[in-house]
Amino acid sequence: MNKYRKDFPMLKHDYIYFNNASTSLKPQVVIDSIVDYYSNYSVNTNRGVDSLGYEVTKKYEQVREKVANFISSDKDEIVFTRGATDSLNLVANSFGNLIVDEGDEVVVSVVEHHANFIPWQELCKRKGAKLVLVPVLEDGTVTPENLRQVMSDKTKIVALNHVSNVMGGINDLKNLAKVVHEFNAYFVVDGSQGIIHEKINVKNLDIDFYAFSAHKMYGPMGVGVLYGKKELLEMMPPIVFGGEMIESVTIEKTTYKKAPYKFEAGTMMVPEVLGFGAAIDYINKIGLKNINEYVRKLRDYLVDKLLKEVKDIEIYNLNNKDTGFVTFNIKNIHSHDVASLLDKEKIIVRAGHHCAEPYMNALNVVATVRVSLAFYNTYEECDRLVDVLKKAGDYIDVLF
Ligand SMILES: Cc1ncc(COP(=O)(O)O)c(C=O)c1O
Repeated sequence: MNKYRKDFPMLKHDYIYFNNASTSLKPQVVIDSIVDYYSNYSVNTNRGVDSLGYEVTKKYEQVREKVANFISSDKDEIVFTRGATDSLNLVANSFGNLIVDEGDEVVVSVVEHHANFIPWQELCKRKGAKLVLVPVLEDGTVTPENLRQVMSDKTKIVALNHVSNVMGGINDLKNLAKVVHEFNAYFVVDGSQGIIHEKINVKNLDIDFYAFSAHKMYGPMGVGVLYGKKELLEMMPPIVFGGEMIESVTIEKTTYKKAPYKFEAGTMMVPEVLGFGAAIDYINKIGLKNINEYVRKLRDYLVDKLLKEVKDIEIYNLNNKDTGFVTFNIKNIHSHDVASLLDKEKIIVRAGHHCAEPYMNALNVVATVRVSLAFYNTYEECDRLVDVLKKAGDYIDVLF
C-alpha cells in the first residue's frame, strides 16, 4: 500500500497522521479536479442555456451516478448535502417531522455521534415523542436481539451508526433492518465511518436512509450524501427553499421538483461534488477490500505492540479488529496530555469525547485517545507512535 503515499501531498510534510476518522487526507487527483473546475469550467449548474453550464451539470450528475453505483442505489435516490450532519438533520427535520407524533418513539444508541443523536433528541422534544436508548455490547455494537427488546408499535424510527467513530464496532445492518421493518419502523443509518470500511449494497441491506460525508473518504470537505429509498424521498417535504429546487412559483403557490432535486436548493458545492467523483474513482482503483485488508493488518500490529510495550495502557476496543480504530487511555494521564505529547513529535491523533459525550459518560471516562488508521499509514509510523507513548509517563512527570 505504501506505493500510494506519493498520491497524497500532505504526506510530504513530516507529520504522522493518525486522525483519519476525523477527516482523511486528499489525493492529488481530488485536488486537481477542483483546480480543473475553477480553471476551466467555473460556472454554475442548471441555471442557463450556455454550453459550459450544460457541461458542468453533466459532470455533476455523473458524480451522482458514481455515488449511486458505489452503494448500489438508483441515481435519483442520492441527495447531495453539505455532509453527514446535514444529511441526518434533513431526515430528522423532514421525514421525522412527517411521521413522528406525540407519544411515538425514536430509537438510538448511546454510542451515536452527536450528529446522529441531537437531531433525534430535538425531534422528540418538538413532537412530544420519546427518545429510547437501545443497549449496546461492550464493543459498542447493537445486536438485533437487543434492538427487538426496545421496539414496539410506538417505534417510528431507528437511527444507528454503521461503524462507531469511538469504538470501530460494525453493526449488522442487514439483521437490524429486518427487526426495524418487522415493527413497521424506518431504519436511518449513519454511514460516516462505515462507507469507507466495506462496500455496501443499500438495496440488499434494505436500509431506508444512509448518510455520509465525502471528506472521510479522501474527498473534499463540504459535500455529503443522503441516500433515501425513492418512495420515502418523494414523501418528504423540502426544508430549505430557494432557487433551482422548484417546478413553478406563483404568488399563490410553489410546486417543487422531484427528489433529489427538491432538496438541493441554491448554488450547490459544485467543485467539491466533482472532487468527490475523483475520490470515488480513486477508491475504486485501489479497491475497498485491499484498503481494509491492509488497515486490519496494521491495526493488529499496532495493538499488539501497544499492549506489549506501553505500560498502563487501557484499550477500550480490543476486539473490534475489523476496522482501523484504537481507542485508549494511559492510566493517570489525561488524553489531552497524551495528544499534546504526540503533537510535539508531529504525530496527530484525536483526543477528547469524539462528539459522543453520552458514550464517554457510559464508559465512565472523561475522554479517550483515538488512533484511526488509513491505508497510507505505515508499520514504521506505528513503531514511532509506540516509542513516543512509552515515554508518556516520564513526560507527564516532568510537566508536573
Ligand atoms: C459516526 C459519525 N457520524 C457523523 C459524523 C459527522 O460528520 P460530518 O462532520 O462530516 O458531518 C462523524 C464525523 O466525525 C462521525 O464520525
